[in-house]
Amino acid sequence: MLTELRGRSVPVHWSNLFGVVSAACVMVLFVTGVFLMFGYDASRTSVTYRGDYAPLVGIEMSAAYRSTLAISFEIPGGLLMRQAHHWAGLLLPAAIILQLLVTFFTGAFRRPRRGSWVLLFLVFVMALAAGWSGYALPDDMLSGTGLRIVEGIALGIPFIGTALSNLLFGGEFPGRIIENLYPLHVVVFPVALLLLLALRLRSGFRHGAPQFPGPGRTQENVVGIPLFPQMATRAGGLLLIACGLIVGISASVTVAPIWLYGPASPGDASAGSQPDWYTGFLDGALRLIPPGWEFEWLGRTWTLAVLIPLAAVGLFLALVVAYPFLEEWVTRDRDEHHLLQRPRSTPVRTGVGVAAVVFYGALWGAASSDVIATQLAVGLESTIHFFQAAVVLGPAVAFVLTRRIAIGLQRKDGDLLAHGFETGRIVRLPGGEYVEVHEQLPPAERWRLIDEQQGVETAAPLE
Ligand code: HEM
Repeated sequence: MLTELRGRSVPVHWSNLFGVVSAACVMVLFVTGVFLMFGYDASRTSVTYRGDYAPLVGIEMSAAYRSTLAISFEIPGGLLMRQAHHWAGLLLPAAIILQLLVTFFTGAFRRPRRGSWVLLFLVFVMALAAGWSGYALPDDMLSGTGLRIVEGIALGIPFIGTALSNLLFGGEFPGRIIENLYPLHVVVFPVALLLLLALRLRSGFRHGAPQFPGPGRTQENVVGIPLFPQMATRAGGLLLIACGLIVGISASVTVAPIWLYGPASPGDASAGSQPDWYTGFLDGALRLIPPGWEFEWLGRTWTLAVLIPLAAVGLFLALVVAYPFLEEWVTRDRDEHHLLQRPRSTPVRTGVGVAAVVFYGALWGAASSDVIATQLAVGLESTIHFFQAAVVLGPAVAFVLTRRIAIGLQRKDGDLLAHGFETGRIVRLPGGEYVEVHEQLPPAERWRLIDEQQGVETAAPLE
């Protein structure tokens, strides 16, 4: 295997950087996570604070919150480690989303890489699960509010809701949630994440990386640099730089100042509570359904304010993970593809992608509806109505506009190929007529566009 990999070439593209940033986040999360384990006490036992942070001295709190305060103020380097852990936890989903977007818009998910897309999606889900469970661990007021919402969602699911809530919380809220989440956070989710990353790496090695069309690039070859040592050293260097930047940000920008939020208290929630950004779309979905939408059936209360958001988000995520299979089914294109496409070459796919981004973005924005309403001095009701309209109409408008723009750009490329580019030089013909001189594109650029126009043809059934 190693000898085979040594002879491999890999294409170079700036978007490889998103993978490097994801890897750097995972590295920082594991190193800092192990450090945090030495200071963290996963227990909701009530204690009285007698530590270094004066404003909270004498306050009743959980051992988990007290230990997180101790990591922040008493253990040398603890605050930097907490911040680096949290910053990496914030950056990881962003880097994975960017990887998903690049893969989607370039068609890198087509055969033989459909499995790789599913694995990347599962890595994203696992990063969300790890981030969400970690967010709860300090047991501060914000994480307590988040857990209260989770309890409400669990209880709102008919038939299994109460059992699910009991399983998670181990009884009446907040129950043993910290004790239950801890092993999930430090063992189950990280191990699952590593496993998925390993499988994805294996699949990447097996099929090789796809490349953009260009001079000399075909379905059969790879134009790039050797994997060993050039690519490996380049990626390794960038990985270390990314780790350094994460630590640099963590040393200079405060994140999760839990001492300002105070300890979790089951009856309290602070105004303007915001979840970490990556769970915002789930929170936003809950805010968009009017309260009180519920009915009785089969002896149960069916709370639509919980069920509709759950169904909508569930369906959205299911469509995302199944997209490669759906596209293959619609286009009947079962060929293997090693050349990528530009978004304009596949207007329908690009339209679908932008519609999905708008849907996600509208849900995400809705999570901040209260903050937006106060900052912009507009009514909360109007803000909610705006996001309700954006979730329903936004994707359709985005699809139509994007598809039109992509087709327009395609035609512009076709025009460039057929007539060359405008030089800006106007000449007068013997008959007195003025024309602008057009010149052919450089050969490499023509080659790239011709390849892409071929990509357009293969994608034609989608049109
Ligand atoms: C794999 C992805 C992971 C993500 C996204 C993640 C995320 C988080 C987040 C957001 C927090 C809250 C930090 C804060 O206090 O502000 C946290 C806490 C914590 N994490 Fe992780 N974590 C991950 C992996 C790990 C691993 C592998 C370990 C241990 C081996 C670990 C151990 C801890 C501990 C002990 C805490 C509680 C201490 C504290 O909150 O400061 N984490 N995690």
